Amino acid sequence: MAEYKLLFEHTDDPTYKTLKGYKSKGGYEGLVKALKMERQAVIDEVKTSGLRGRGGAGFPSWIKWNGLPKEKRSPHYILCNADEGEPGTFKDKQLLETCPFLLVEGMTIAGYATQGDVGYVYIRGEFIDGARALRRAIDEAYANNLLGKNILGTDFSFDLHIHLGAGSYECGEESALMSSLMGERGMPRLKFPHAPLPTVSGVWEKPTLINNVETYCCAPHIIKRGGEWYATLGAGTKNSRGTKIFSVSGHVNKPGNFEIEFGTPLRELLELAGGIRGGKIKACIPGGSSMPVIKPDAIETAIIGYEEMMEAKSMVGSGGCMFFNEHTDMVMLCWRTAQFYANESCGKCTPCREGTRWMIQILDRIVAGNGQPGDKELLVDIANQIEGRSFCALGDAAAWPVKAFIRQFPEEFDYWIEHGKSPIKSKEAAALAP
Ligand SMILES: Cc1cc2nc3c(=O)[nH]c(=O)nc-3n(C[C@H](O)[C@H](O)[C@H](O)COP(=O)(O)O)c2cc1C
Ligand code: SF4
Repeated sequence: MAEYKLLFEHTDDPTYKTLKGYKSKGGYEGLVKALKMERQAVIDEVKTSGLRGRGGAGFPSWIKWNGLPKEKRSPHYILCNADEGEPGTFKDKQLLETCPFLLVEGMTIAGYATQGDVGYVYIRGEFIDGARALRRAIDEAYANNLLGKNILGTDFSFDLHIHLGAGSYECGEESALMSSLMGERGMPRLKFPHAPLPTVSGVWEKPTLINNVETYCCAPHIIKRGGEWYATLGAGTKNSRGTKIFSVSGHVNKPGNFEIEFGTPLRELLELAGGIRGGKIKACIPGGSSMPVIKPDAIETAIIGYEEMMEAKSMVGSGGCMFFNEHTDMVMLCWRTAQFYANESCGKCTPCREGTRWMIQILDRIVAGNGQPGDKELLVDIANQIEGRSFCALGDAAAWPVKAFIRQFPEEFDYWIEHGKSPIKSKEAAALAP
């Protein structure tokens, strides 16, 4: 299988960032079609497509779209999560920079389907180029009656704003994002079943739809070509439909974003990225740094699909796919990864706030050459106390990689603890060293 460029079909064409260029490639045909459909028919089309959220959890998108009240009693908000903080993931960045109208059109379709009034794109603060490209697209859309009052002469009106984040990974968690958008501290809030779903009570306690950039970008294609057509992509997998963009990095010859159809073998993604460089393949983290690391036998057989990747003992996640060669020190990679999550823990709940620090203390002493017998087991024990016991999923994100590194490469931890040094002498290992 080669790349399947649906969202990225025109990513290399600079005119695609302009309304004229976007329209010349079929842009806005989806919205024009949607505006002639019943709102529920648009949601049903998304249901037929089998689209699942591309932000990480793979939640069926139509369930969210269908969850906003049909009887409207207050404003409805449409939020786009463009925070993209998961290490290894940089696909939303490219979508914003090269296909901004796809996002604007997708959010407008979502707004129409769910009776949305106002949309916000919450963009990671460092994504200046993406924010600028989106600003220009929004301004052009307003100037051409594609945003604002009575869009294309219909009774549907929709406003769209940009909100820049300030560099907190936790603000990508949807309830923390909503807090941040409202000017509060970027910390998560109580969720279902202890609190209503955002579709009922989200930002400013009003019905709210929140999806990832890539998720919204699929909507124009789904409406234009039909949900049934979209569902033919990935039809060989259990329950993953359409295309998925993977950001491939690490020890590969051609790092970058690659859009593939679900059902593509993981090893073909590696081939698209030019294959492994600097030695034999040792490991892969397929879906962003919080996802479990897998070894060559699993890399060889894994199929890209939400369920299929779980069978390979990892996850699709946000699509941040990192490959590592044989010279990589997995203990140091584990230590670097754990540092990220400890730094990004917001501190609200004890298991994550304390647990991530404890894991760092133990990993610090291992990579300083002072590891103690039992440290490996202690790390797993702490990770188990964090996983499933934290207030938000950052706790799981911190626990999963540590457990997976120890499960897959126990001998490297043992060597470090016994000898006080790395089993690997290489420039790759040196690059990760303290
Ligand atoms: C700590 C944490 C960080 C997250 N960061 C992001 C992010 O940067 N972008 C994103 O789309 N989703 C992120 N998510 C997932 C969101 O909470 C949410 O599930 C997603 O925006 C829903 O969109 P989707 O259904 O289209 O995937 C994060 C989740 C957690 C727990
Ligand atoms: S799990 Fe971590 S990031 Fe989430 S609320 Fe608790 S301390 Fe904050």
